[in-house]
Amino acid sequence: MIVLGIETSCDETSAAVVRNGREVLSNIIASQVELHAPFGGVVPEIAARRHIECIGFIVDEALSHAGVALADIDAFAVANGPGLAGALLVGLNYAKGLAFVQKKPLVGVHHIEGHVCANYLGRDDLEPPFLAVVVSGGHTLLLAVEGYDTYRVVGSTRDDAAGEAFDKVARVLGLPYPGGPQIDLAAQGGEAAIPFPRAKIDGFDFSFSGLKTAVLQHIAREEKNGGDGVNIPNIAASFQKAVVDVLTERAVSACKHEGFDTIVLAGGVACNSALRRTIVAACEQNDLRLFKPEPIYCTDNAAMIACRGYYRLLAGGADGLQLNAYPGRMC
Ligand code: KG4
Ligand code: ZN
Repeated sequence: MIVLGIETSCDETSAAVVRNGREVLSNIIASQVELHAPFGGVVPEIAARRHIECIGFIVDEALSHAGVALADIDAFAVANGPGLAGALLVGLNYAKGLAFVQKKPLVGVHHIEGHVCANYLGRDDLEPPFLAVVVSGGHTLLLAVEGYDTYRVVGSTRDDAAGEAFDKVARVLGLPYPGGPQIDLAAQGGEAAIPFPRAKIDGFDFSFSGLKTAVLQHIAREEKNGGDGVNIPNIAASFQKAVVDVLTERAVSACKHEGFDTIVLAGGVACNSALRRTIVAACEQNDLRLFKPEPIYCTDNAAMIACRGYYRLLAGGADGLQLNAYPGRMC
């Protein structure tokens, strides 16, 4: 089954062609980062307007890269939430148009479930059950994935998402948007010696707002003392270590608690080099298998949407042309 996936939930316009859920024939991504950077964050209306300019070209490019014609596509999968309403509607309506004209099934995909499915792309050695660590700009979730269509939330953030914390701390450090990759880079020249707090919450939940406040207080204190102590690389490395330590510790304990032997990483923050390194070491120590998608499949992309759409279709999950967008829907 060849599925064309479409992703327009935030600031990436993406289309991909995926065979049987796992073989990526093409994955085209047009990033809007430069468009939003002057505003320090994604401007929803600008995002939607850029999607509408790009979507036709991106879908055409995905088809031609894959070497397939529109008539070869067996189904159309589209991310229909969560995300920005106007942005989601562009991809959703485009997918509806294609499905209607081609008389082929349309399937709506939960964006976060798509992130988890990024781990299936290009490989045939991963099947549920496993523990998924979803760390993106909007979500921090530990999911017990029991089957292709069944999962439970075992942990989530009580306040900021991991990516949101990275972006906010980057902003106070004066680093450009998007902040996550900038902190990752700055941290490489720093020492993680500042003892920022690790929130201790019962169970497998997270909280990052106290950490963000501690970074702010540290900067304010150093500035009051003359400013020489505001060492961006050291602050970035110490903040990053605090986030990574908590994510890794909770992921490993949740995995063991569920009785699974596999952890998978997902979402934009899964690109973080320290997280990748630390969780590899922790999984080796604890005899757990670890899957971490290539960075291109961690950030928003349509290949993961096509993969999730494929598994939804196998389970009989096709949608009708009345399918709507659900900007705020959670797991
Ligand atoms: O999954 P994603 O592309 O979009 C959402 O669904 O939110 O994640 C974007 C988030 C942003 O907060 C970005 O700063 C963060 O992922 N991010 C990183 C890195 N690369 C992207 N955070 C830390 N280190 C990175 N290398
Ligand atoms: Zn995402």
